[in-house]
Amino acid sequence: MKHLTAVILAAGEGKRMKSKKSKVVHSICGKALIEWVYKAVDDAGVKDTVIVVGHRADQVKECMGERAEYVTQEKQLGTGHAVMQAEEHLKGKDGIVVVLCGDTPLITSDTISKAIKTHKDNKNAATVITAVLEDPSGYGRIIRDSVGNVLKIVEHRDATDKEKGVNEINSGMYCFTISDLLNALKELNNNNSQGEYYLTDTLEILIKKGLKVGAVIAEDSDEILGINDRIQLAKAGELLKKRVLNNLMMSGVTILDPNSTYIDEGVKIGMDTVIYPNTVIEGKTVIGENCTIGTNCRIVSSHIGNEVEVLNSVILESAIEDEVKIGPFAYIRPESKIGRKVKIGDFVEIKKSVIGEKTKIPHLTYVGDAEIGKNVNLGCGTIVVNYDGKKKHKTIVGDHAFVGCNSNLVSPVVVGEGAYIAAGSTITEEVPQDALAIARSRQVNKEDWVNKKGLQRK
Ligand code: UD1
Ligand code: CA
Repeated sequence: MKHLTAVILAAGEGKRMKSKKSKVVHSICGKALIEWVYKAVDDAGVKDTVIVVGHRADQVKECMGERAEYVTQEKQLGTGHAVMQAEEHLKGKDGIVVVLCGDTPLITSDTISKAIKTHKDNKNAATVITAVLEDPSGYGRIIRDSVGNVLKIVEHRDATDKEKGVNEINSGMYCFTISDLLNALKELNNNNSQGEYYLTDTLEILIKKGLKVGAVIAEDSDEILGINDRIQLAKAGELLKKRVLNNLMMSGVTILDPNSTYIDEGVKIGMDTVIYPNTVIEGKTVIGENCTIGTNCRIVSSHIGNEVEVLNSVILESAIEDEVKIGPFAYIRPESKIGRKVKIGDFVEIKKSVIGEKTKIPHLTYVGDAEIGKNVNLGCGTIVVNYDGKKKHKTIVGDHAFVGCNSNLVSPVVVGEGAYIAAGSTITEEVPQDALAIARSRQVNKEDWVNKKGLQRK
């Protein structure tokens, strides 16, 4: 097969975003705009991508890393000038180059594949992806002859009134035969209202050489939506979010209220899991089958097994095994590992700890830097005192231990297997296996104290 390559234009300033960040690194559903574009070309089978960078080049490079190569456009002299910067990369390659913009995240691999196919089938020199819009203002117009052949693209600014009446617009995305493109770029000039080298002018140049130029109309005109400001970012966000949620629903996940559910692209969720309203699931999260998640949950980069229930809780970068129940109002912080059938109840915070299977931590508890065994019961109000003001220390609680309510486990400390701790204890020393530890002062009753003090209240 001939060479397939992509050039993504991302050197522009993106002034209207009013941001210190490069426009193309703003993200939707956990992916930068340029990553969406990259994913579309990658899914269409294009495995060689060059990105034209300029403004805030470092941010774009950091975002895309080694997935692409980079060329720099020092001065932004137009889209044609931007593509010229990739000449070294394209020179001598026999094949097709797909040119896209870094700020059009809705483009799909299907449309790109269709454009590549049309380009090959018709032996075109250039194939432009177009869309028909009710309001085409601002976009370049596709000018066709009486039988429908593409003649040229005219920018809105340079268009006559008649041309402005055309509703078919240029998406800014194209396929070119590499050698034809490189030849046409040599003939570009900047004789236009903006004094820029327009990539769009290459089409007319190619036609004048007697080469074929075609067009593929995007089925869904939303695909060509470019992002220039934060209102468009939100609009594209809505559309991409819908795509992500629809894919999940098509694979067997119930989402009760798609409007109030935000799920990052790439999150995996198993069949028959139900997502309740007001839930946000981000990063590299994987959720198993038959779970109920929400209402009101935030889960970030976590691995959750099957048949897990999470209600009104936050889970960050942690692993939750099968049949665990979490919440309401629990906070699972990074690097925690919660074993099978564990119950983590209301107002419980777990940080960087391992909890063994079937352990119950039902209410009002803090567990930090601890290893809690299997089938342990941490009573209401148990606090692992992991921080001495300077350092964090580790606590270990053995299997089957029973910690009474309102106990402090002052780290580092070990509670042996099967041991009991009396309610209200502050444990500072090791508790042996099967022992009962009582670490509180004894109760004293002062008989008739109220009458002696004259403090009767009845
Ligand atoms: C361009 C097209 C227009 C089309 C529209 C679709 C031209 C002349 N016009 O117009 O026909 O309808 O896209 O959205 O091509 N860029 C650079 N270097 C530059 C200039 C631009 O890298 O010197 C990049 C920008 O970062 C952006 C893309 O190219 O990603 C498009 O540039 P932009 O200035 O937005 O082009 P439009 O005027 O919108
Ligand atoms: Ca634009």
